[in-house]
Amino acid sequence: MDPEIGARARLQAAGRETTLVLSMSVRKATLLTLLSACAAPGAQGPPTMDPHSHAEPHRVRVTHVDLDLELDFAAQVVRGVAGLDLERVDPGAPLVLDQQGLAIRSVAGADGTVRRFRVGPEHDGLGSALTIDLEPSDRSVRVTYATTEKADALQWLEPSQTSGGKSPFLFTQGQAVLTRTWIPLQDSPAVRVTYDARVRAPAGLTALMSAQQLGQDTRGAFCFRLEHPIPSYLIALACGELAFRPISERCGIWAEPSVVDRARAEFEDTESMVRAAEELFGPYRWGRYDVLVLPPSFPFGGMENPCLTFATPTVLAGDKSLVSLVAHELAHSWSGNLVTNATWRDFWLNEGFTVYFESRIMERVYGADRARMEMQLARAELEREMARQEPWEQVLHVELAGHHPDDGFSSVPYTKGALFLMRIEAVVGRPRFDAFLRRWFDEHAFQSVTTAEFRRFLEAELLAQDADARKAIDVDAWLAEPGLRADTPDPRSPLLDQVDAQVARWRAGRTAADVRTEGWSTQSWLHFLEAIAGNLDAASMADLDRRFDLTNSGNSEILCTWLRLSIQHGYSAADPALVRFLTDVGRRKFLEPLYREMVKTDAGRERARQLYGRLRGRYHAVSRGTIDEVVGWSANSSTR
Ligand code: BES
Ligand code: ZN
Repeated sequence: MDPEIGARARLQAAGRETTLVLSMSVRKATLLTLLSACAAPGAQGPPTMDPHSHAEPHRVRVTHVDLDLELDFAAQVVRGVAGLDLERVDPGAPLVLDQQGLAIRSVAGADGTVRRFRVGPEHDGLGSALTIDLEPSDRSVRVTYATTEKADALQWLEPSQTSGGKSPFLFTQGQAVLTRTWIPLQDSPAVRVTYDARVRAPAGLTALMSAQQLGQDTRGAFCFRLEHPIPSYLIALACGELAFRPISERCGIWAEPSVVDRARAEFEDTESMVRAAEELFGPYRWGRYDVLVLPPSFPFGGMENPCLTFATPTVLAGDKSLVSLVAHELAHSWSGNLVTNATWRDFWLNEGFTVYFESRIMERVYGADRARMEMQLARAELEREMARQEPWEQVLHVELAGHHPDDGFSSVPYTKGALFLMRIEAVVGRPRFDAFLRRWFDEHAFQSVTTAEFRRFLEAELLAQDADARKAIDVDAWLAEPGLRADTPDPRSPLLDQVDAQVARWRAGRTAADVRTEGWSTQSWLHFLEAIAGNLDAASMADLDRRFDLTNSGNSEILCTWLRLSIQHGYSAADPALVRFLTDVGRRKFLEPLYREMVKTDAGRERARQLYGRLRGRYHAVSRGTIDEVVGWSANSSTR
């Protein structure tokens, strides 16, 4: 028996809901009710074993979502109707949806008559079941609803948080389990839907979604359609004062008018990236590939929303040195959007494949040195992170029972996942591995897949015929064991070796003037700063700053690293820059290490809490959730 199915059966035997006691961090110190998995033998489509969704798609499955929405910026509410097309697998079963904090006004059948519904108990961070009683003839329902202030997917920005400063802005972030906070649906990556949407926005603002744009209707509503089935976390919306600049026939950049030209110049290689990706792993199947550059409060670097990657403006470095972010989000058009993790345990299938693919795109467009350099830095970061992690967090096929999906977010699914694929490539050779990946994408296109399915495919397609390869790759250990194995690839860049020589010179004299930095890239600087991090003090930082002006770096990655070191070593000259950075930027990857460094001392903790109290309202709920834990923010100290 498949071990996953076995585990599911045991969970089922224990009842629909299982409560687990968790330990460790704040979220984990609470009781989190785990939604037990469910599967029906003979159910159509992939069985669901998603403990982070209330839906029961093996009984009634949503296949299409039709949205008719109005964006009310004054009230900060999205309201309207979600029409859901249904596949009735078990004719007697009710429809079970996910919802979190929605005000459900009414539910109707296709004929307009009302349907009874009930909202179940709330589960920590996972919302609740919205159960709808169906008539035998129902093939669709219409849910009329509005969002509330609990809609964590949404961030409503004041004009002052935009670069134009005149208009408000709204964007959504669905992954992992936030789509249920703005749309009632089956919020599991195992359930794929096509979607249509009509969105009414205030005059002068442009609405964009992760779909084909159909223009405006007679009411002025922006219309969208996505004909390919996607998981719910990829439904995304943004609305603000936006301008567009084309890059090629199918690629272009959306951003606020004052940012769009800079963004287009930074990302001008996007079409080359799409071509490189297609040469590697098959046609780009989503029509357009555009990038939307959001205001700086966007909590992620990028989000692979179909047809329209959402991106942070903090990668606009002016020298294309951070554009691997576009390669990454583009790669998700294959790994993630075309072939999707079926549960959040399988997240490494999304991110590990994507980091591997990203590196292959970077290699083709910018050369092997650049790709190797970025992988070397990523591996070093993974090792630093693993040193702080518990063993369970270091496992690729992570056990998330009793955990929120976000608890599995770290460099492990990303970089360890990519290193696993690099290991397979090294053993079987690039031509065979490329053919294997191509088949993986083609044969699982528009499907949601589990780690067990990947294992079976790997065995059948690559290892069964190759005893030596099977011996050389301990797949079980790679997937199930913590830590890094001795056979983990160790990408090394000659360019960073040259930086190591300068690290040695600096260490010898601790004098910035000794360091030769001509021709250094962003990655060189990051490598240098991490290498000397343990040897710095305030005086040596002042010396470096006088020579290299790092406190005024326009590169967000270098600046963030420098500011963290400033906190660590008490280099207070960087304080104003730190406050500015924490005020302007809401990207979690930058906020977390800075706040984490601050809270290490008593005085720093006090300062962090004061600053955070002032700035918390500027951050998206995703970033707030993380930083709340870091600084020990609780509901009664908040003013939200
Ligand atoms: N899909 C992720 C972002 C994500 C993951 C959001 C999990 C919510 C839950 C996206 O593709 C990503 O990995 N973004 C990275 C950028 C990247 C270049 C590694 C980020 O935001 O840092
Ligand atoms: Zn990603």
